[in-house]
Amino acid sequence: MRARDWRGLPRSRLLLLAALLAWAAAAAHEEDAEGPHSEAGLPPGHGNSHWSYADKAEWASDFPHCGGHMQSPINIETGAALFSPQLEPILLPDYSLPPREMLRLQNNGHTVVLDLPRNLTLTGGGFPQPYQAAQLHLHWGSALKPGSEHTVDGHRYAGEIHVVYYSSHFDTIQEAMVEPGGLAVLAAFLQVGSEENEPYQHILEHLNDVHEEGEETWIPAFDVAKLLPDDLSRYFRYNGSLTTPPCYQTVNWTIFNQTIRLSPDQISLLEDTLHGDEDELIQDNFRLPQSLQGRSVLASFLMLHSPEGAQPPGEGGSPRAPDPYGPAEEGGGDSAGSAAGGGQPHTPDGASGRDPEPASGEGQSPATSSGADQQVGSSLQTGDVLAAIFAALFGITALAFFLYVRKHQAQNHRRDSQPIKSSIIYTAATTEENAA
Ligand SMILES: *[C@@H]1O[C@H](CO)[C@@H](O)[C@H](O)[C@H]1NC(C)=O
Ligand SMILES: *[C@@H]1O[C@H](CO)[C@@H](O)[C@H](O)[C@H]1NC(C)=O
Ligand SMILES: *[C@@H]1O[C@H](CO)[C@@H](O)[C@H](O)[C@H]1NC(C)=O
Ligand SMILES: *[C@@H]1O[C@H](CO)[C@@H](O)[C@H](O)[C@H]1NC(C)=O
Ligand SMILES: [Zn+2]
Repeated sequence: MRARDWRGLPRSRLLLLAALLAWAAAAAHEEDAEGPHSEAGLPPGHGNSHWSYADKAEWASDFPHCGGHMQSPINIETGAALFSPQLEPILLPDYSLPPREMLRLQNNGHTVVLDLPRNLTLTGGGFPQPYQAAQLHLHWGSALKPGSEHTVDGHRYAGEIHVVYYSSHFDTIQEAMVEPGGLAVLAAFLQVGSEENEPYQHILEHLNDVHEEGEETWIPAFDVAKLLPDDLSRYFRYNGSLTTPPCYQTVNWTIFNQTIRLSPDQISLLEDTLHGDEDELIQDNFRLPQSLQGRSVLASFLMLHSPEGAQPPGEGGSPRAPDPYGPAEEGGGDSAGSAAGGGQPHTPDGASGRDPEPASGEGQSPATSSGADQQVGSSLQTGDVLAAIFAALFGITALAFFLYVRKHQAQNHRRDSQPIKSSIIYTAATTEENAA
């Protein structure tokens, strides 16, 4: 009886351990294959990493964070934004990389991602610590509708760039992305202008090399800060999330007030080149505005109080009236010092500036999108992280168990040099029971 009891116990333990080890090994292997940089985007069909803009309404069932209270993107009501003098200009020092350096450009099935060296830093901006670069990516619409993720006073722009950073308090973006304030994303709106935007050509001219999902190429480095507006002092700030699964609510958002202009051909190239799932064109890769749920949006700049009267219709109510600055950006392409002076009143919503641009879909057009976040997000699936943790735990357990077994095995040999049968582990366990 007794003998049986203890024989049974170790055996079941052994089986359990073997199963766990096999699982841990598989998980570890998968982790390896995935590589630490999968944030750029995982191949499709990766378990829960699989999602699409077509099913965004269901993201929350697979990715609970997507149903949280601090989600992104949002519609920014300029009239409700609170001026905060602590929001100093964003600083992006030494961004001109030598062209001999190569950067990876990838089609992750949701967007185009350019990996960035982490020594590109983000300072200023009222942040308590610097952030280091991870990657940048774009969101766009289609010939029929604009595709920015954030909207301003209900206006959706043609596209949006997201430059993703993680706090220097962390060694990896994987660790940072699950901590509040661990990520910072710089966002700027893309609009249609009349001239070709040269910095953007560095990326756009290679889109064809990655037109299928999962493809990647290496392109010569360039001054990626030139992809952002000239005026880095005027922006909106709020606490939000990745705009794609797993939607972690750890992003400190900065949305520049000045916009960037691309030529009609450039916008079309962006909209009509990349293919994703099922070989369909990647279009409308944006998520709809999420509810603010009591969050406040700060502005680094003071918006003029509109004299009673001539005010943009709309957004009523907030203490801060939207104002004459109007979408300076509209006109202002990436340069136009528009921002600073502000000023020229113009038509709301780019009616003026945009040429061939599809009329802006106001605020909530039904569309989908992906996010910078998303890439980040996809890179580190919660599942992968858990798998890694479990793999480590089981590895340690297995090692301890093995050493333990060896030790007792040795004792066993000493005491009575009985030949060991079957598995070492089994014998060891038995020995232990005996000893006790
Ligand atoms: C960042 O690292 C690259 C090499 O990867 C180097 O060429 C570049 O000068 C560095 N930039 C800064 C600002 O240190
Ligand atoms: C985001 O940055 C601001 C500085 O503007 C900082 O005060 C805030 O704590 C950060 N948010 C989070 C969640 O860390
Ligand atoms: C973001 O969250 C942090 C930490 O909770 C808070 O200190 C900060 O004021 C928030 N920022 C905004 C813009 O609400
Ligand atoms: C920029 O700020 C002005 C208010 O000064 C606002 O009317 C305009 O819509 C803003 N544009 C963007 C892109 O933030
Ligand atoms: Zn994004």
